Amino acid sequence: MDAAPDVVPACADDGTWLACIECGETFAPFEDVRYTCDHCDGLLEVRYAELPTFDDFGTGASTDGPDRGVWRYREALPFDLGVTLPEGDTPLHRVPRIEDIVGVEGLRIKHEGMNPSGSFKDRGMTVGVRVAQELDVGALACASTGNTSAALATYGGRAGMPTLVLLPQGKVAAGKIAQASLHGARILEVDGNFDDCLDIVQELAARGAVYLLNSLNPFRLEGQKTIGFEILEQCYADYGRFPDRIVLPVGNAGNTSAIYKGFRELVQSGALDVADVPKLTGVQAEGAAPMVEAVTEGNDEISRWEHVETRATAIRIGNPVNAPKALPGVHNTGGTAVAVSDNEITAAQAHLATEGVGVEPASAASLAGLKKLRRQGRVDDDELVVCLTTGHLLKDPEAAYKAGGDPEPVPNDADAIHEQISE
Ligand code: F0G
Repeated sequence: MDAAPDVVPACADDGTWLACIECGETFAPFEDVRYTCDHCDGLLEVRYAELPTFDDFGTGASTDGPDRGVWRYREALPFDLGVTLPEGDTPLHRVPRIEDIVGVEGLRIKHEGMNPSGSFKDRGMTVGVRVAQELDVGALACASTGNTSAALATYGGRAGMPTLVLLPQGKVAAGKIAQASLHGARILEVDGNFDDCLDIVQELAARGAVYLLNSLNPFRLEGQKTIGFEILEQCYADYGRFPDRIVLPVGNAGNTSAIYKGFRELVQSGALDVADVPKLTGVQAEGAAPMVEAVTEGNDEISRWEHVETRATAIRIGNPVNAPKALPGVHNTGGTAVAVSDNEITAAQAHLATEGVGVEPASAASLAGLKKLRRQGRVDDDELVVCLTTGHLLKDPEAAYKAGGDPEPVPNDADAIHEQISE
């Protein structure tokens, strides 16, 4: 992990610029709309002249936007405040019974489902929509397995900007479509999968028709890196140390990339020792696991899976576009990746629910993955582990019904009901 500070290029705007992760070319951040490198088409990353330490983060004393959640980390972001509801500041649940069964020294659940629109995507959108205002773009757009569209509709709506979302037909959970609809997005259902939707929306963005707010947009990841900052601070407050490992579901690998970038920045600023960086551990569904395949086979690149299927529709993705950022994150932190079956995901979802933590299937992949890695002896029993749960239970009511029990019909009569519950 490189701890050398960047040389500030002439194109920097107030100490912020964009850099290509492949060829190193730098670009002014807010002059033109661009998502990838003009020269080599590599992914872009936001860079800063000054990187904060923990002491530079807000105190959290005020309950208002600028000092709460994502914007408390404004010293690590391109702006001081964005379109906020506010987002972030999510709970790090204790789950003592699950911790016992999994058999690790500490297990905590970082529940990103507690964000305003019910997923971690809000952290990205609060920054991304602020940048869209700066660039003075017209319509905002994304391809989505559901949560990104819900978050974009929410934040675009709050900013008073028109939003367009492309969804794979028949493969998005009901709660997410309901959100996009109510918050006023124009919803286009594509006869294809998520990767097809992303190809199309990238083409529309290249034609200048829309501003792209998928995680290919480097500013989205700036907001999402604050998940890692919060996990470090919350664990330090409770245990006096940082976690050994963070286990998270992987779709487009945006979160993995974002959290890794945040840790690299803390290492660069001197706030975090390289040895203390948690091992980033990605989990995918067996039916959509190109990143696990790349990690397992030791490849530098992923091969796109054309056919993907899983009950965890949020991570039904065959071409994780952020893999070039995420694979080094897994590799350089000593992490790994694992695939889990749909039944393992559902079992983990039900298990989390017993501790009062309600999550959608993709989120439960993190716990399912940890359990599998423990069974395989790839996670030690003395580890302090944080599992990220990315979306709320109510996002996918159908999956929740299936993982839980069925309602029982009863007569409209107290005696009969009493008899039935006494059986
Ligand atoms: N968990 C949930 C609940 C998600 O919605 C997503 C991604 C992920 C995990 C994977 O995160 O892409 O950063 O690796 N959902 C996107 C969407 C693709 O359109 O809502 P990632």
